Amino acid sequence: MATADDPLVLGIETSCDETGVGLVRGNTLLADAVASSVDEHARFGGVVPEVASRAHLEAMVPTIHRSCREAGVRLTDVDAVAVTSGPGLAGALLVGVAAAKALAFTLDKPLYGVNHLSAHVAVDQLEHGPLPERCVALLVSGGHSSLLLVDDVTIGVEPLGATVDDAAGEAFDKVARLLGLPFPGGPHIDRVAATGAVTIDFPRGLTARKDLERHRFDFSFSGLKTAVARWVEARERGGEAVPSADVAASFQEAVCDVLTRKAVDACVANGVSHLVIGGGVAANSRLRALAVERAARHRITVRVPRAGLCTDNGAMVAALGAEAVRRGRQPSSLDMAADSSQPITAVIA
Ligand code: KG4
Ligand code: ZN
Repeated sequence: MATADDPLVLGIETSCDETGVGLVRGNTLLADAVASSVDEHARFGGVVPEVASRAHLEAMVPTIHRSCREAGVRLTDVDAVAVTSGPGLAGALLVGVAAAKALAFTLDKPLYGVNHLSAHVAVDQLEHGPLPERCVALLVSGGHSSLLLVDDVTIGVEPLGATVDDAAGEAFDKVARLLGLPFPGGPHIDRVAATGAVTIDFPRGLTARKDLERHRFDFSFSGLKTAVARWVEARERGGEAVPSADVAASFQEAVCDVLTRKAVDACVANGVSHLVIGGGVAANSRLRALAVERAARHRITVRVPRAGLCTDNGAMVAALGAEAVRRGRQPSSLDMAADSSQPITAVIA
């Protein structure tokens, strides 16, 4: 539980299409206001950077006010301001960074520019308490799929592996489009798959013995996506109905099988007994269930935040900011830049 002495941290997230403003005291979540421009991108089948930036501009001030109202605090109560400095869409990041600098400057409070990916890991503290000393993190979102070894989420994380082509969320979105489901496709595949069965044996990228030597902890989803497309095309050419629910379930199984197998292997290889899963795809029901089932066989504890905290939000940024304050990390300078390709090894800008 937070005490009145714990600093109140405001977190701003604008790296993609969600304008998120969260308020956290200690490890307690006080407010998590999110305004999404996802509907404006849906007809393009993907996020349009210019549209996202403009939407952030319009949503920023109202979302800050909404967050304060939800938490029952005034802006002047805020002790530190955290913001996603990268990675993400350059123009979108700039809106959040400019807003955070303005707030930190006028309130005369420290500013922490933080890494979006580390924030996806740190957010779990709001639900399950302090992170273990050492853990493996599986980060799966629309833009990233990585396995990381995390000792201190505010310092560095050691990359163990990552996707060599598409991110897991990107694969969900592309396959959803193929099946005529709306964007972003992940939640729709999840829903439709629940009504189908795993009847098709789609390929598991980078799991063959020859691939494991160099890519033990890497992922590849582009071959899977192509295999699904070919399978669907062949049915359509033959004039057969496409069993969408079975395709969705089989595709989802292929993704979750590889993600959980490699994540558990990474824990075992590093002698780690906690696996944290974060990012939008961590909301997937099959991924969560399979991870718990497989990890249990190795006495590994799985920590996944509730679905609403897995997708992009401001609370995760505030959570990482609060941890940076608690651990006495040096704040960022007011002339810090947004970095669209901020590496996972750089946690605080
Ligand atoms: O972390 P996030 O909100 O934004 C990025 O940083 O990319 O992740 C968005 C991604 C999208 O690709 C979306 O389709 C996917 O997360 N996603 C899901 C689910 N909910 C969101 N994928 C699979 N199953 C879900 N339930
Ligand atoms: Zn994200």
